[in-house]
Amino acid sequence: MNERPGTRNSFSGKIGFVLAAAGSAVGLGNIWRFPYLAAKYGGGAFLLVYIILALSFGYTMIVAETAIGRMTRKSPIGAFRAHGNQKHFRAGGWLNAIVPMLIMPYYSVIGGWVCKYLFEYLRGGAAGLAADDYFGTFISNGASTEMWFLVFAALVLLIIFSGVRNGVERVSKISMPILIVLALVIAVYSMTRPGAMEGVKYLVIPNFENFSWMTVVSAMGQMFYSLSIAMGILITYGSYMKDDISIEGAAERVELFDTSIAILAGLMIIPAVFAFSGGDPNALQAGPSLMFITIPKVFANMGITTLVGILFFALVLLAALTSAVSLAESVAATFEDELGWSRKRATLCITAIMVGLGTLSSLGYGPLANITIFGMAFLDFFDFLSNSVMMPIAALASCIYIVRAVKIERIVEEVERDGAPFKRKKMFCFMIKYVCPIFVVIILISSIANVLGWITM
Ligand code: PFF
Repeated sequence: MNERPGTRNSFSGKIGFVLAAAGSAVGLGNIWRFPYLAAKYGGGAFLLVYIILALSFGYTMIVAETAIGRMTRKSPIGAFRAHGNQKHFRAGGWLNAIVPMLIMPYYSVIGGWVCKYLFEYLRGGAAGLAADDYFGTFISNGASTEMWFLVFAALVLLIIFSGVRNGVERVSKISMPILIVLALVIAVYSMTRPGAMEGVKYLVIPNFENFSWMTVVSAMGQMFYSLSIAMGILITYGSYMKDDISIEGAAERVELFDTSIAILAGLMIIPAVFAFSGGDPNALQAGPSLMFITIPKVFANMGITTLVGILFFALVLLAALTSAVSLAESVAATFEDELGWSRKRATLCITAIMVGLGTLSSLGYGPLANITIFGMAFLDFFDFLSNSVMMPIAALASCIYIVRAVKIERIVEEVERDGAPFKRKKMFCFMIKYVCPIFVVIILISSIANVLGWITM
């Protein structure tokens, strides 16, 4: 056995890591992003590609990142320095550390939109939310979006500052079970509306007429985003994981949980859209606004609007909060480990990054709408930069670091540390060495070319 760095602050019980990692994974990505991508890029075909990718590629990356974290007991920058301190590897660590800093602010802006919708449902404003152009008017109102962004950001910062790792664990422990129950209730309700079965069929039965290269590219990007891969999160959480816990078992549970919630969210939203619009392609293509525009209309049509609306947005808020906390936790750990900062100082700096970049995103559809980068508003640009450009590079860096510096055998050794055999060892080794790096490069090129208009997919 190799010499191990001293154990640091760790998750308490067996379930701590799983809940915290699942809390990070399950978020806006599952409830807001997955359904609109599935609706847009092929329904059942998208779902099938997504599941295959998650079980092979996603699984490999979760295991690899968690193992690196536990083996080094470091957040990404330190973890990438631990095996041969070469410059290009260090850059990989930095990338993994910077991505969450870019995602956290704009993610919190969308979290703010969710707070606003929940607030409106709570005070009985359901009819207003279903009105045409409510969402457009809201996001172009800089003062209002900024205020709700700050409300959400304050919640995140409070948890980070006060709870530290226990905070992350406790919030996840309470909210994850509630989330499953809420998701089930709403999905059943939605699927039992008249006409909703067509939507269920659209989501679960693959129809390859709807398949395109973009189905693969978007499913891949979504998988990274949804499982919180290549953002330093799993490295950080792995560094808090005890030695006797099975990395493989944890990875399986996180995946199962994350994918189930995504499918449940699809089953909440897509059948509701069919019941409401009869599967109108325009409604299905609504994209990012599907949750904020279509859903309130769908709920309004369903009768018991206010209660369903409150339940739904409360669920989304919980999910968004645990994910945003994980982003902030990863950034905090980086500051503490690399700069030796206290939690207080780290939180202050995170506040500055959050407010600075978040304000750009929150005002980007209103007062700052005339400033665009490659034709994108700030929020879309940060999303594109982090998910389509930096994340694939960070994932590539992880693969190369593992194969060249850490060595696959040591990862295998780490995974087997709890004494149980590594069940999917062969697949893991093959994926991390060959398939993952090649795939990541193809995805990176495709998505950049797509945004720059060189190819249309
Ligand atoms: N995985 C989260 C979601 O699906 O909403 C989002 C997210 C959390 C992305 C943490 C990145 C991250 F580091």
